[in-house]
Amino acid sequence: MTVPAQPMHDPVAAPLAGSELDPAQIRDLTQEIAALKKEKDAVILAHNYQVPEVQSVADFVGDSLQLSIQAQRVPASTIVFCGVHFMAESAKVLNPTKKVLLPNLSAGCSLADSITAESLEDWKARYPDHAVVTYVNSSAEVKALSDICCTSANAASVVRSLPQKKILFTPDKNLARWVASKVPEKEVVAYDGCCPVHDVLRASSVGRVKHDNPRAVIIAHPECREDVVKMADEVCSTTAMLGAVKRFPSAHTFIVATEHGIVHQLKLRYPDKEFIIADGCIGCRMHCPYMKMIDLVMVRDALVRGKHEVDVPADVAAGARRALERMIAVPRDA
Ligand code: 13P
Ligand code: SF4
Repeated sequence: MTVPAQPMHDPVAAPLAGSELDPAQIRDLTQEIAALKKEKDAVILAHNYQVPEVQSVADFVGDSLQLSIQAQRVPASTIVFCGVHFMAESAKVLNPTKKVLLPNLSAGCSLADSITAESLEDWKARYPDHAVVTYVNSSAEVKALSDICCTSANAASVVRSLPQKKILFTPDKNLARWVASKVPEKEVVAYDGCCPVHDVLRASSVGRVKHDNPRAVIIAHPECREDVVKMADEVCSTTAMLGAVKRFPSAHTFIVATEHGIVHQLKLRYPDKEFIIADGCIGCRMHCPYMKMIDLVMVRDALVRGKHEVDVPADVAAGARRALERMIAVPRDA
């Protein structure tokens, strides 16, 4: 079966909510992509929030920190990044001789868009003696103006590792607040950004799900609001959630407060456990539209046509690389 080439996608006119491919198309595209990866000397890196069939064709699936580390190590000449734009940019910055392809250039991130280089410059000018810690969910320009980057997997370690006591944390205020609680010896000033997918989750919704599943363990991403985080038994990055389940061997049901794509990886590892998205309604609210903008047709077309290449100007890349490499060098328990 031949699957037609990808038409020009207008995400505003026709948002992609996930895969609309049937099982036969998925099987054929999966085979085609496997052959193309060899032919084009390409590897596919995918975030835990991608649709399951895209995760399945990837050579590596992980959280933002793992994907940055993997991107640095890729020996192949091409990286097809199945995630959002800032992640592909980081891959290019960390491994600049590789061709980095993002199958859909519209896959952005509204948290990353909440801070620009200009607004960070203005903010820094108001706090001249603060170190700037920037969550990787940000543009390369913003990273380049930062002292160091962090992800949700290492944010507390990064802040703890800095010699400065005063920290500007950007752009996620929920992650900033969580980090401040973990590193009370620092003074953390938070930027006013948030992830709409996590910030929309209310404690009352989680409470209803918990009421219906009183023995369930709650695992939350630190991009969630404070009242949600306080209800959680574990607060961690997406990949760390996979390990967290092991710490509750007698639990059968887990309430997961993050984007629903992670359930694919959780189910692969723990097929006998039950995972319920914390809003009580899979795909209703804890759904990142940007992470669902890539499907297998786009991955195939990216490999065939070499599209869409992500590049970062050399001066910006040098600054962003410094901030990212400083982050990767921080030991996790610093
Ligand atoms: P992780 O780094 O935990 O995978 O999170 C990425 C992200 O975009 C969360 O919204
Ligand atoms: Fe950005 Fe939130 Fe989507 Fe992550 S889940 S890519 S932070 S909008």
